[in-house]
Amino acid sequence: MCGIVGILGRGEVAARLVAGLRRLEYRGYDSAGICLVGSDGFVRRRAEGKLANLEARLAAEPAHGASGIAHTRWATHGRPSEVNAHPHIVGDVAVVHNGIIENFRPLREALEAEGRVFTSETDTEVIAHLVARELERGHPPVAAVQAVLPQLHGAFALALLFRNEPDLLIGARLGAPLTVGFGDGEAYLGSDALALADLTQEVSYLEDGDWVILRRGAVEIRDRENRPVTRPRIRSGLSGALVEKGNYRHFMLKEIHEQPLVVAQTLQSYLKPLDGQVALPIPDARLENVGRVTIVACGTSFYAGMVARYWLERFARVAVDIDVASEFRYREPVLEPGGLALFISQSGETADTLAALRHARAEGQTIAAVVNVPTSSMAREADILLPTHAGPEIGVASTKAFTCQLAVLAALAANLARARGRLSREEEREIVTHLAEAPAAMNAALALDPAIAALAPLVAPARDVLYLGRGPDYPMALEGALKLKEISYIHAEGYAAGEMKHGPIALIDEAVPVIVLAPSGPLFEKTVSNMQEVRARGGKVILISDREGLAAAGDGCLATLEMPRTHPLIAPLVYAVPVQLLAYHVAVAKGTDVDQPRNLAKSVTVE
Ligand code: G6P
Repeated sequence: MCGIVGILGRGEVAARLVAGLRRLEYRGYDSAGICLVGSDGFVRRRAEGKLANLEARLAAEPAHGASGIAHTRWATHGRPSEVNAHPHIVGDVAVVHNGIIENFRPLREALEAEGRVFTSETDTEVIAHLVARELERGHPPVAAVQAVLPQLHGAFALALLFRNEPDLLIGARLGAPLTVGFGDGEAYLGSDALALADLTQEVSYLEDGDWVILRRGAVEIRDRENRPVTRPRIRSGLSGALVEKGNYRHFMLKEIHEQPLVVAQTLQSYLKPLDGQVALPIPDARLENVGRVTIVACGTSFYAGMVARYWLERFARVAVDIDVASEFRYREPVLEPGGLALFISQSGETADTLAALRHARAEGQTIAAVVNVPTSSMAREADILLPTHAGPEIGVASTKAFTCQLAVLAALAANLARARGRLSREEEREIVTHLAEAPAAMNAALALDPAIAALAPLVAPARDVLYLGRGPDYPMALEGALKLKEISYIHAEGYAAGEMKHGPIALIDEAVPVIVLAPSGPLFEKTVSNMQEVRARGGKVILISDREGLAAAGDGCLATLEMPRTHPLIAPLVYAVPVQLLAYHVAVAKGTDVDQPRNLAKSVTVE
């Protein structure tokens, strides 16, 4: 986790480093720091808490220098505090780190046995000590870093700065992303290209095991065997404006409202509406023998995978296994030859999902990845890349990336069904027609924003909330509960409506709002029966359904929300809108930090 930026500049760089960190805050925001090197050596400023605290520190005590490194942290080893905040300085080296050094304990013990004194609880400080020791032994910085990198196990992206060499910056990556940026007489490092968007559009993505020596006007990349390598230099095409809130109060609200547009953009790459065909970038021949799909993801992306399982089973009649990435690798899953392993991730960098992807590859699976960041590790390692076109998602709680994932997954299910001979031309045309209707239906759901905001006071005082749904609305119930937990800190559970009678029904009383997602369709009657079981026990129900559903079952509910009538296929995309907006308005009512909820980070690059 964490975000890092480095600048070898031509003028003062402190403000530009902080601007880069601002774009990386999604990676963590429990403390931040910068270190510059100038004529007087190192100048470091660090602060616990949000980046604003570091900015205040810098305003009070400005830092000068034309080269520097900076870091925004999501704590792994050592609580969030100023002493644990990066950069860490030992002797003549300063380092910022994203990832985990798994062998830091034995390294630290050995260093302490030599009499070295540690000032923080972090794993990162061992890197600074190891490099400092090499420098003390008389090795120049490049040789010092070269000697230390093979000693580090785990995952890392690093940027290192040297007290006596203001013209040098060294970066390294293994299992965590790092981007090199090229400027006019300047050079940059960043956790992603977005961090560098205002500095440069010319970037190279380091490969795993690469390290890079940046000097003014010369950038040298080496691989893990220390051989000079060239990595493609590409135009990132990103602009800082992509990460502005516009007229919205929060990024999350902006991103919720962008959904019809970005889902339409995404569908454009996967559908040929005029021909009534789905058109994935995979020849049908490559899919026709797929007999099993294994889906792996984390968090909200996992719930997108759960929805996809219904579609894949129903349309393609293919066996589907699904697991969260952190469990998948450790349960010794049976992966038969010829299987398709499908990884879903907004960031494409989530460490658990990436490790699962590599495991599935080693087990001979064909790897497909539904990813929002096209330059991410997962995107680069997949055999079949299925990008979502949601654009940068900044709010920590995923919204638009989720519905774009659903759009791609629905198209994939239809494509697989066709390739396996399970879909007639007519059925395919019908699916395409319904998917193409999704953006307009989502727009209609967004128009309910004021009505959804009016529900927030019913939920905000609750200590516990239940969400119920059946079929593809069950993962939507899970997603609704997750959204509420993430940003409003209210305990919430999503349940398969029919499973509620096997336990959670004991929780029902008038203080526990029960939110029922029940679009009319084949499962409506059964869901409503479960809802009546709640009501019979004094439960307070908020029913989210369409006009027909509310006419049949809306009486006696605490509140109802009338949704547009949708085809069951696209209901998950459309019902995502009210669950997202409800969580948003409850969080606003509770005054929480919507875009940067406590303890979370957007991209979790540690296992
Ligand atoms: C974090 C985020 C979630 C996200 C999950 C998976 O926990 O807070 O919003 O769903 O990671 O991230 P990914 O980038 O792999 O989709």
